Amino acid sequence: MVIFFGKYVIIKTPSNQLGLPPGPTPLPFIGCTIQMLLNRPTFRWIEELMAQFKTPILCIRLGPSTHVIVVSCPNLACEFLRKQDIVFSSRPETLSTYLVSDGYKTTILSPPGYQWKKMRTILVHDVLSPPIHKCLQPKRDKEANHLLSYIHNQIEKHATPTDSGLVNIRETSHHFFGNWIRMMIFGTRFFGDGMEDGGPGEEETEHVASVFTILKYLYAFSIIDFFPWLGGKIDFDGHKKIIRTAIQRVRKYQDRLIDERIQMWNEGVRKVKDDVLDVLINHESPKLTAEEIKAQILEIMLAAIDNPSNAIEWAMAEMINEPTILKRASAELDHEVGRNRLVEEGDLPQLNYIKACLKEAFRLHPFAPFNFPHVSMKNTTVAGYFIPKGSHVLLSRPGLGRNPNVWMDPMRFDPDRHLDVEGKQVVLSDNDLRMLSFSTGRRGCPGVVLGSTITTMMLARMVQGFTWEAPPNESVIKLDENDDGLSISTHNFKEKKYQFSYVHLVILIYV
Ligand code: HEM
Repeated sequence: MVIFFGKYVIIKTPSNQLGLPPGPTPLPFIGCTIQMLLNRPTFRWIEELMAQFKTPILCIRLGPSTHVIVVSCPNLACEFLRKQDIVFSSRPETLSTYLVSDGYKTTILSPPGYQWKKMRTILVHDVLSPPIHKCLQPKRDKEANHLLSYIHNQIEKHATPTDSGLVNIRETSHHFFGNWIRMMIFGTRFFGDGMEDGGPGEEETEHVASVFTILKYLYAFSIIDFFPWLGGKIDFDGHKKIIRTAIQRVRKYQDRLIDERIQMWNEGVRKVKDDVLDVLINHESPKLTAEEIKAQILEIMLAAIDNPSNAIEWAMAEMINEPTILKRASAELDHEVGRNRLVEEGDLPQLNYIKACLKEAFRLHPFAPFNFPHVSMKNTTVAGYFIPKGSHVLLSRPGLGRNPNVWMDPMRFDPDRHLDVEGKQVVLSDNDLRMLSFSTGRRGCPGVVLGSTITTMMLARMVQGFTWEAPPNESVIKLDENDDGLSISTHNFKEKKYQFSYVHLVILIYV
């Protein structure tokens, strides 16, 4: 222990003239770990510290040597992710990221280097390229149609003579985004048979639930992340076991399909590329191994369900509570699309109010409290503070999106703030980091077009297809956050559902 103490404290303590950003005084060797453990959830503790120190940049030392730097102001955020983008382009190497990426074979979680560059290039130039995006549109259309028939079936199932039915928006959006990403990657909505009403079977339910478990524990301030020498030996807070089990649960469905498909190509049974898996298997120079494909597909699953489903849930809840907003969104659809056909992807550029509603949901209600960490690759200075090599930089998503110096009346859901007076198209991203939806810079999200398309499509179809209102006997939906995260607390919901009645469903395409 003394050896470790000596090693970490004496060798790794920064010896720079400039000070670190403000923050609580760390104890030798353990830093602020005990305070962190006593103050779960950690993101609320960090929020309180930032308020207490009255600072938009905070430094907390965890363990013997990790400086966690938290930022809540756009100018500073741009210093990190734009001005010094290269310096902060690494990722933390933790046990959970190692396990999820299968030893850093993927894009999101890998530190910069040959493997990250290779996988990111394949994603950008192949998987997410405009031609592939276009080729895969029929699959997205199929899922957008399926969404309507699924909701319609829910109404039929739950409706009574006095009550037009309840729909659980959280389940519906998890289901929809799980469906479309499985459809895009594997060409199939279901791993098993699904349910008769078009809903998820037990396979899909387990798959999506396990994806959310991995996300919850991926960077969960685990003790072993800050005391790396514990890794692999003691599972101090049980996170390692949870994440291992969740990875196994997701991969047992996916990996079987990947192996079967590779065999089909090897045997010449499959000849035409029809989905993302075909694209990855047939990639040449460099050819990908089965392990790389499996790890990358797991990572795409992690990228594709959480943010959009959370934005839909909050946007719908806020819009139901503010019927004039819902009416304006519906009027926009009437004006731009009409009532004789369903909204299609080609209509999305014109749906600025719908996009503004979504952007407002991303601003005010991000899925996660922090952007995935960026790690500094060398000692540097930001805003006059010393930032040591190896620091974990976390952009606070609510800190940016709810910053009162940036946004007027920040807690109000007001889509108008995103509309351009000159009528410029609304986009869901913000490269100036006044809010964090897709982030920016070399580690920024390469899935902006795809993510924006599917999220906007889901909201547009839901607003066009049905008339929504709060559950019976509840005048509004309570918009409290969960105790341990930023999603809507389900405690307050009667039967945990939102009610709607459908009124002007114009065409329903059953698929
Ligand atoms: C609404 C949907 C989505 C949102 C809001 C979103 C948001 C984000 C954010 C905030 C990051 C972190 C950026 C950073 O570290 O600074 C990210 C990274 C990433 N996203 Fe997305 N994303 C979405 C959909 C997708 C989709 C559909 C894909 C791919 C199929 C994707 C692929 C990636 C990848 C590969 C990275 C990591 C890039 C890197 O580290 O080099 N995302 N995304």
